[in-house]
Amino acid sequence: MTTDSRLRVAVTRRLPDPVQDRMAALFDVTLNEDDHRFTRAELLEAMRDSDVIVPTLSDRIDADLLAEAGDRLKLIANYGAGVDHISLGAAHERGISVTNTPGVLTEDTADMAMALIIGVTRRLAEGVAVMQSGMWDGWSPTAFLGGRIGGRKLGIVGMGRIGQAIAHRARAFGMEVHYHSRTRLSPDIEQALSAKWWESLDWMMGQMDIISVNAAHTPATFHLLSARRLKLLKPSAVVINTSRGEVIDENALTRMLRAGEIAGAGLDVYEHGQEANPRLRNLPNVMLLPHMGSATLEGRIEMGEKVIDNIESFSRDERPADLVL
Ligand code: DGY
Repeated sequence: MTTDSRLRVAVTRRLPDPVQDRMAALFDVTLNEDDHRFTRAELLEAMRDSDVIVPTLSDRIDADLLAEAGDRLKLIANYGAGVDHISLGAAHERGISVTNTPGVLTEDTADMAMALIIGVTRRLAEGVAVMQSGMWDGWSPTAFLGGRIGGRKLGIVGMGRIGQAIAHRARAFGMEVHYHSRTRLSPDIEQALSAKWWESLDWMMGQMDIISVNAAHTPATFHLLSARRLKLLKPSAVVINTSRGEVIDENALTRMLRAGEIAGAGLDVYEHGQEANPRLRNLPNVMLLPHMGSATLEGRIEMGEKVIDNIESFSRDERPADLVL
């Protein structure tokens, strides 16, 4: 029996030490010290026994799980910005609030998108591979020729915080910035970013050198870059995705890369979570990363601080700063 009257909080993955230490001081917290991925049964048990659960994008919290979770759970304080792994409708029906951690991973994710833009366009993976193999036979005027970054047309799909942070960086590299999003930016922001809005994604796809996907995954954006739309790209085009894999038809993209119908891709996210299409591997023009766009120690601590602030506000019956619903 416990006499602890503090909120009972279950955290599904290991978080940076300063975050875990603060949580332990504030809440009656269950941590996942060995950082294993929770099974569905473990997730269910954690949800049944807690007032608050702190999941991550690798925990699928669907309507069935919420239905089985009982009445104790009151808040899903997601450790991450994307909430596409949570059935928001079912949470709403059951009176469970959901918060996330937007804002603090914007700059880090934008940096990673730029790293992929430069990496694929300048063929960094091929350079690294040849040095690691010990097979470099010296400088040559025609070896490893990539494309110049300055002057390239970058088309950003989804112009939220991260899209705009990429636009800032791209301008500093001398790129032309274009974007497609449902809502057009205000004229002031467009001017500050020198960004051109395209109402038609199809038209933008056909004109760009590089497409960067920065739209959240929702039913409306599933396969937004469909096989048909990908075919609109120029053969010299490159596709970058640091958002969610489901926004691109990954099989269609893979087929086009293998057939040389587009020039390259830089992917940090995959349609089926950690299972990147195996046929994407070992392609010289493709850089694959293990969803590490927001992986800085500073960012991950700030994400944890947001989670804690959201839980604390919720426990005081105040509106959490990052309330999704
Ligand atoms: C998020 O927070 O949703 C990010 O994808 C994590 O990098």
